[in-house]
Amino acid sequence: MNPNQALWEKGDFTRIAALMRASGEQFVAALGVAPPLRVLDLGCGDGTTALPLARLGAQVTGIDIAGNLVDAGNRRALAAGLSNLKFQQGDACDLRDVADHTYDLSVSVFGAMFAPQPFEVARELVRVTRPGGRIVMANWIPNDPTSYVSQVLKISSAFTPPPPEGFISPMTWGVESHIVERFGKAGIAAEQISMARDTFSFTAADVTPVELIDRFRRYYGPTMNAFEAAEKNGTQDDLLQQLNALATAQNTATGGGISIAATYMKVTVQL
Ligand SMILES: C[S@@+](CC[C@H](N)C(=O)[O-])C[C@H]1O[C@@H](n2cnc3c(N)ncnc32)[C@H](O)[C@@H]1O
Repeated sequence: MNPNQALWEKGDFTRIAALMRASGEQFVAALGVAPPLRVLDLGCGDGTTALPLARLGAQVTGIDIAGNLVDAGNRRALAAGLSNLKFQQGDACDLRDVADHTYDLSVSVFGAMFAPQPFEVARELVRVTRPGGRIVMANWIPNDPTSYVSQVLKISSAFTPPPPEGFISPMTWGVESHIVERFGKAGIAAEQISMARDTFSFTAADVTPVELIDRFRRYYGPTMNAFEAAEKNGTQDDLLQQLNALATAQNTATGGGISIAATYMKVTVQL
């Protein structure tokens, strides 16, 4: 199986996504979406942004490489009575079933950044979005101390064997020069791209920082892999301690629960 697909089908990202719904709603509200609008949500997971987009009246297609998340998204759309939203399986590197210029708006929130071929991702996003349309990506930023997820991934990778030769870190999607180069190869001028830092939060009233890390350990593919590798050389307690300490230090909730902010790079491409 495609290792990228295997990584995301390994766990159950819905258990993490459940803590990110409020930020997903805010992200969508800030897009200024006014129907009728055809929207692609690429690397959509179980619909943290796709459902709010559909609730605004847009015609939404969520595409994700993980079959379990596509199924979870379709169940959520059905339960919400949203007939203008469908989820389907596909690879951000090769959207072969999508015709050119199909969408007015293409969004990808911490989704397409994880696909292994970033130049193909940029090319496909540009190809399937109509001239005059918009692409909006949310990407984690490497080595950013204010980006909680960036720190989780950094700690996790220190316990994971080095990736295969030629592997391009997903985190490079949070670096301005790479973003401009990738969309540049897809025919987009630098002036058409704007980049700004914003914040996504993990929030829950009934989850502690330690329970958050337990969810990452049991359900989030990259952290699951880090613990598996750490268990092989007996360093799993060290990994757990580092992740617990990070979550506890970055938690700003008062009176229980979690509120942990994570800075990200918002990329807007005007076609
Ligand atoms: C961190 S999750 C984010 C999911 C969702 N956008 C959200 O905000 O909840 C990353 C998502 O990207 C998807 N993904 C990873 N590589 C992909 C690829 N090559 N093509 C499509 N989706 C991909 C994963 O299956 C997963 O659902």
